[in-house]
Amino acid sequence: EKGGFDSFMDKEIHDQPHAVADTLLGRTDLSGRLTLDEIRIDESVLRAVDKIIVIACGTAAYAGHVAKYAVEHWCRIPVEVELAHEFRYRDPIVDEKTLVVAISQSGETMDTLMAVRHAREQGAKVLSIVNTQGSTIPRESDAVLYTHAGPEIAVASTKAFLSQITAAYLLGLYLAQLRGNKFPDEISGLLDELRALPDKVQTVIERGEYVRATARSMKDATSVLFLGRHVGYPVALEGALKLKELAYIHAEGFAAGELKHGPIALIDAGQPVFVVVPSPNSREGLHSKVVSNIQEIRARGARTLVIAEDGDDAVRQFADEVFWIPKAPSLLQPLLAVVPLQIFAMALATAKGLDVDQPRNLAKSVTVE
Ligand code: M6R
Repeated sequence: EKGGFDSFMDKEIHDQPHAVADTLLGRTDLSGRLTLDEIRIDESVLRAVDKIIVIACGTAAYAGHVAKYAVEHWCRIPVEVELAHEFRYRDPIVDEKTLVVAISQSGETMDTLMAVRHAREQGAKVLSIVNTQGSTIPRESDAVLYTHAGPEIAVASTKAFLSQITAAYLLGLYLAQLRGNKFPDEISGLLDELRALPDKVQTVIERGEYVRATARSMKDATSVLFLGRHVGYPVALEGALKLKELAYIHAEGFAAGELKHGPIALIDAGQPVFVVVPSPNSREGLHSKVVSNIQEIRARGARTLVIAEDGDDAVRQFADEVFWIPKAPSLLQPLLAVVPLQIFAMALATAKGLDVDQPRNLAKSVTVE
């Protein structure tokens, strides 16, 4: 069943181009308009939504965190992202104009399910983004947008993450279409860019051997840091989570802008730091700021492991290693930038002789609170 791969995780990493393509499939009509038929929430209700709250745990929450940047930008609706277990116990402000989006691969995560129930009791509409057909969370939601990643067996989530971001982006574009925030040709342009992603994800996977070799050389590392900015920030958090759960190494993700507010004190000689570099052409203009961060940490002795876009020559001189990813619009970069981080964690854990499909102390779905 592992399709010739050493682990389910490795197989699922390789499934990612399909996971994204299948999640996009069949969601437009002949004229190119998005038609999310499954969303059986009244259009008038969706037009009136004045706040979105994403609830999820772990990797699914990081997918929500990525989606926040895109959905706010496209729809001009405030989006909060909250860990489901925190949401549920803090008296959240939720009413009929709140759309709660629950993201879960398994559809069975108890913390997320309890948060869904809580939100509905307060009168919110709940739309879930779930991978497992017929699971509990969709049954208890007002509507469901399925990701079509196929079964995910390895405990560490990989292809589900990419498909969750894809589905959340479809939802964002659908809301923008419905509410008239974007012109139809802008939406179809963004959809075309999404459709171009699977081939680019494939390219990143094909470049994986260099990442694996780097990971093998780092099997004695005791701490690894991850920096990112804008949509690269949740990617950094996800990279750190993968390394913790698979390789049992202390790992932390930071927003690059926070460095000087504390974390830079952690940097000393030899400290490995991954940095997700925004596209040099990104509208947000953050590229040069992150390149300065790389310089700052390198000057303090860090070993810099940089994820950068093809052709980004500015990073070369400050990077000990560069993992190149194809060019993409900045909001789509997370679907590419996360892949080397998944491969890195898997390869490092494998080099340590660990079982990457079944890390210690963890279950695939957390069905207790
Ligand atoms: O099934 P879910 O998406 O609701 O699971 C949420 C988390 O438990 C899950 O993403 C977990 O963090 C993974 N082990 C991360 O790789």
